[in-house]
Amino acid sequence: MCGIVGYIGPREATEFLVMGLHRLEYRGYDSAGVATITPDGQIALVKAAGRINQLEQLLANNPPNGRVGIGHTRWATHGNPSDANAHPHYGGNNELALVHNGVIENYRPIKQRLESDGYVFRSATDTEVIAHLIDSCLKRYPPVADMAAADYEPLVNAVQAALAQLQGTYGLAVLFRRWPETLIAARLGSPLIIGVGEEEHFIASDASPFAGFTDKIVYLKDNELAVVTASELRVVHRDQGRVNHSVHVLDFEAADVAKGGFAHFMLKEIFEQPEAVENVMRGRLDHDAATSKFGGFNLTPQQLRGLNRIIMTACGTSWHAGLVGEYQIEALARLPVEVEYASELRYSNPPLENRTLVLAITQSGETADTLAALREMQRKGCPVLGICNVVGSTIAQETDGGFYLRAGPEIGVASTKAFTSQCTLLAMLALYFGRLRHMSFSAGKQMIEELQQLPDQIRAALQCNDRVKEVAEKYARCNNFLYLGRQFNFPTALEGALKLKEISYIHAEGYPAAEMKHGPIALVDENTPSVFLMPRGQVYDKVVSNLQEIKARGGPVIAVVCAGDDEAAEMADDVIEVPTVEEYLQPIVTVIPLQLLAYHIAVARGCDVDKPRNLAKSVTVE
Ligand code: M6R
Repeated sequence: MCGIVGYIGPREATEFLVMGLHRLEYRGYDSAGVATITPDGQIALVKAAGRINQLEQLLANNPPNGRVGIGHTRWATHGNPSDANAHPHYGGNNELALVHNGVIENYRPIKQRLESDGYVFRSATDTEVIAHLIDSCLKRYPPVADMAAADYEPLVNAVQAALAQLQGTYGLAVLFRRWPETLIAARLGSPLIIGVGEEEHFIASDASPFAGFTDKIVYLKDNELAVVTASELRVVHRDQGRVNHSVHVLDFEAADVAKGGFAHFMLKEIFEQPEAVENVMRGRLDHDAATSKFGGFNLTPQQLRGLNRIIMTACGTSWHAGLVGEYQIEALARLPVEVEYASELRYSNPPLENRTLVLAITQSGETADTLAALREMQRKGCPVLGICNVVGSTIAQETDGGFYLRAGPEIGVASTKAFTSQCTLLAMLALYFGRLRHMSFSAGKQMIEELQQLPDQIRAALQCNDRVKEVAEKYARCNNFLYLGRQFNFPTALEGALKLKEISYIHAEGYPAAEMKHGPIALVDENTPSVFLMPRGQVYDKVVSNLQEIKARGGPVIAVVCAGDDEAAEMADDVIEVPTVEEYLQPIVTVIPLQLLAYHIAVARGCDVDKPRNLAKSVTVE
């Protein structure tokens, strides 16, 4: 949560900062601000509650000049969204300015101490404590004004002395009035990346602001601090002193973080799903051995063959993908799977044995609960593999191995292409574990053929867009929805309800279709549509009975069915058709109309699709 940017080099800093904040706005968008060091050596700071457009209006009247600067877009944790609580925050008597992502748990006692030392606080944030604390440490460790050569050490010592007093998490960037040639960035538990240019450096909390500026990046690790000048980057570890850093090369371009002609990122990402699913399969299907192949297991075939249980852990949509994976792996590989909310697993104490594998599923790779759960499982001796989209993310780095989704940047807060990519990858794992255990060569071959048809089947499913828009407009004013499905389509029902809730603010519940008789059916009336997921399969007739129970009580029914299902068309009020696929792949095509339904209802209700209220794309706080 919260987006951080920083710049030092020959350009006007604000231009990069504002563009970068737009690209990071998905991380939080209740207030924003920038600070630069002006040519006359003062800190210019502009910030405002509201979206980045509001900040831009302020900047247009009074643009801060300077070739070094920091910026921030906020998702509030401590203190409501307001001008005063927006970042950057000054430290001391406007001696430094600081932006922060994370939570400082012990900010209260530090604040009291600083207040008694004479510091005046202007905000209700935990962040302002860090700014004043660094200032107070600078007074104790006065660095020399010339930051050339190795003279950065006193400044680093002062910042590290401040950071050592903090409990919690931070990704932060600081600029100093007296050292205008230097930015300091530091991280503990919140991501921070440095972009390396020609005589310039960039800082951001993910790589998206760098597209079009540089493809060379350095991932800062926990407990590392970067001393950044235009021409040099030095990384210092809390315990090890100066350390070498590796420069990675990014493989995405500016176009990847633009809307590409779509009205919203979410819609663009929905339509990118055929390519995303192609990418997740690329090079991972082994026709000769009729199985899938992965480079990231870091376990021997014997260890993999010996597994007797998988625990998947995740949050939100990624947790729903885990549920799909549970159905897939149990059905196809006959391997027991449990799917745990990461926020619960991190504090529970499940009995574990040494043949348990943990899979941490995450789009961002930064979700605080998933990270904490995987660390707990590692502490207990389980191998933990990651299923991540964001390359180089914290979870990708901390897991013992794993698999990238290769879905490309997902900017819309509502996750779409990451979900279908996760489900596809889990289907490939089901194939892998199935072939390790009992699945025959011909069954493996058959599965590979089915997987290869999937991108075209998603393309066909996307053809329902116009029909879904009509349905959306018909029901857009309803205030309650039920989403019902069984077996493989039960997780899809949960996911459809989540999509609608988060972007249209409509109350929606996902249930196993038969379970609704045990309570939720009381909600059914003529204003409460039920979205039935009922592609042909082993439980089709059972779902038809559940549908009749809703119809008998006057509830409107929207049915997602296989193309040409006339029987369902007669029973439902509205029908949306998807292509026929094998049952273990159904969630990947039935979720498409649900994503589109949520999207079009949100648009019809005038909601901000890509930046829904109260949410942020990556949830880096507990
Ligand atoms: O980045 P992650 O996959 O770990 O994120 C998990 C959830 O925060 C995320 O899926 C969230 O539920 C989305 N907003 C759903 O659309």
